[in-house]
Amino acid sequence: MSKNISNLSGRIGLKKNLFEKISERSLNSKDSTGIKEIADEYNMGVSTIHGAESFYEFLRPAHREKKAFVCNGSACMCSGTQEPLKKKLKEKLGNDKVGEMFCLGHCYENHAFHYDGENYAGNDIKKIDQIIKGEDIKQEKFFSKSFASTSFLMDDKISNLNQFKDLLNKFINTDKQEIIKTLLNSNLTGRGGAGFPTGMKWDFCGKAKSEKKYVICNADEGDSGAFSDRYLLEDQPLKVLFGMIICGYVIGSDEGVLYIRGEYPKSIEAINGSINSLKEKGLLGEKILGTNFSFDLNICIGQGAYICGEETALIASIEGRRAEVDVRPPFPVTEGLYKKPTVVNNVETLAAATGILINGSEKFSSIGNKKSAGTKLVCFDSFFKKPGVYEVEMGTPMKKVLNDIGGGFKEPIKALQIGGPLGGVVPIAEVEKLNLDFQEFSDAGFMLGHASIVSIPKDFPMVEYIHHLFEFSAEESCGKCFPGRLGSYRGKEMFDQAKNKTAKIPLKLLNELLITMKKGCLCALCGAIPTPIMNILKYFGDEMKNDMVKDN
Ligand SMILES: Cc1cc2nc3c(=O)[nH]c(=O)nc-3n(C[C@H](O)[C@H](O)[C@H](O)COP(=O)(O)O)c2cc1C
Ligand code: SF4
Repeated sequence: MSKNISNLSGRIGLKKNLFEKISERSLNSKDSTGIKEIADEYNMGVSTIHGAESFYEFLRPAHREKKAFVCNGSACMCSGTQEPLKKKLKEKLGNDKVGEMFCLGHCYENHAFHYDGENYAGNDIKKIDQIIKGEDIKQEKFFSKSFASTSFLMDDKISNLNQFKDLLNKFINTDKQEIIKTLLNSNLTGRGGAGFPTGMKWDFCGKAKSEKKYVICNADEGDSGAFSDRYLLEDQPLKVLFGMIICGYVIGSDEGVLYIRGEYPKSIEAINGSINSLKEKGLLGEKILGTNFSFDLNICIGQGAYICGEETALIASIEGRRAEVDVRPPFPVTEGLYKKPTVVNNVETLAAATGILINGSEKFSSIGNKKSAGTKLVCFDSFFKKPGVYEVEMGTPMKKVLNDIGGGFKEPIKALQIGGPLGGVVPIAEVEKLNLDFQEFSDAGFMLGHASIVSIPKDFPMVEYIHHLFEFSAEESCGKCFPGRLGSYRGKEMFDQAKNKTAKIPLKLLNELLITMKKGCLCALCGAIPTPIMNILKYFGDEMKNDMVKDN
């Protein structure tokens, strides 16, 4: 069934993308007007279109009736800024006009909210009257700096169109295997979480036999604490787009798409502007710079579903299907978008590929080790004395990362959640024993992931933190697999009761639930959420002993 929908959607393709059509209709209509027309145009049933539309948070009637949305990501929650913010917004806009959104990527300043298509944070709430009037207000930018001996992600070697043109001319006239060799030698692994070697991914897709192939940039950065992809999309868009174009050249693709989350309006604007400039200069389109290589880029805007960061759900979303996870294999490199071979890469991976081509593979591979090579963007939330996004060499001791680069903490912190809601919760004493290294983190029972850091203050109750994690997976699970769909809700129920002091947590049952989810889930959304919860039980169990019963 889903294969049929992929093929039908693929007949029309990216230029009149089905997901975009579904989103547009839904955002501009209060009833079902226009659904039948879309179904007819794409030769599908009305229920298929309706089913897809009903999956996404932003397309639901209840969401569309709200005017403002406060960020309910982990960093804003820990900062304690959101309840007073919500109260203020409700006073201005009405009690039923304020909803929630999961992580707006303003973890460095908190007080984050979304109003009328724009994000605000920090002191912006003080200018709420101007914001409501539609006036432009001056907003704080996050701090960014490279601490690497060679900067691959933050340098300015490809910051204007002339530099872009010269580099493009060089690399689309370079042997494709040479480029793959450079990436393989650099030891670059995917920065989106799974850590697959990027050169190998491009090589596999290049070898797949197909008339049509796609490049997808995964810009659905939903992890709370992470704003590094946002930094690259807004401050280094040419680096990301260059990586996509070269990937297209290497694998034999003529079309790519950036899937950018709707919660990042400025990123969408920046990338859109850069794509238009490249088109005007003839650096995208037919027969680029007089070669036989043609390549075009599109943008697809997410509609509020965290699971769309998972690559098969992301592909389903672009195709206009419900964003449910697909079983792999087949992997996207052989059967991806519209069932055609596809490279899906994270924003930072693509920018790093560009940095490697410019600076050489040796410089990258000489930093860190084979499995954790080169540099990585690390994000610090507002509990750090120097919040912001930093380029750090892999292998750097975490003690140095936190205290020298991040400046240490403004107030006592008991643990850090590193790598988003699915990453480990690491007590401060444990994190200081580690280096910035994917393997070291996972050997110690944690996960470095995208290297976002959320600080959990000393007095923040861990029962509430676990409740937040279960609530997140219950809200965001795609519903495809049984252990994920039911497990998340059962966990949330247990912690609802503990939070409200109506029942204690049955520890044995909780452990069985966590093991079932860990072993039985189809993907890492509900399958990895047990990791931070088990970390908390291991390191902070004592704090929760009055909320637990051990025997049943
Ligand atoms: C629940 C879930 C959410 C994910 N979210 C993202 C995301 O926001 N961005 C991303 O690049 N990868 C995300 N991934 C990983 C992607 O599935 C995929 O591995 C990645 O985009 C591949 O790119 P890379 O090889 O450059 O890392 C997620 C995976 C899971 C299971
Ligand atoms: S683990 Fe959760 S998000 Fe992943 S497939 Fe199962 S229900 Fe969907």
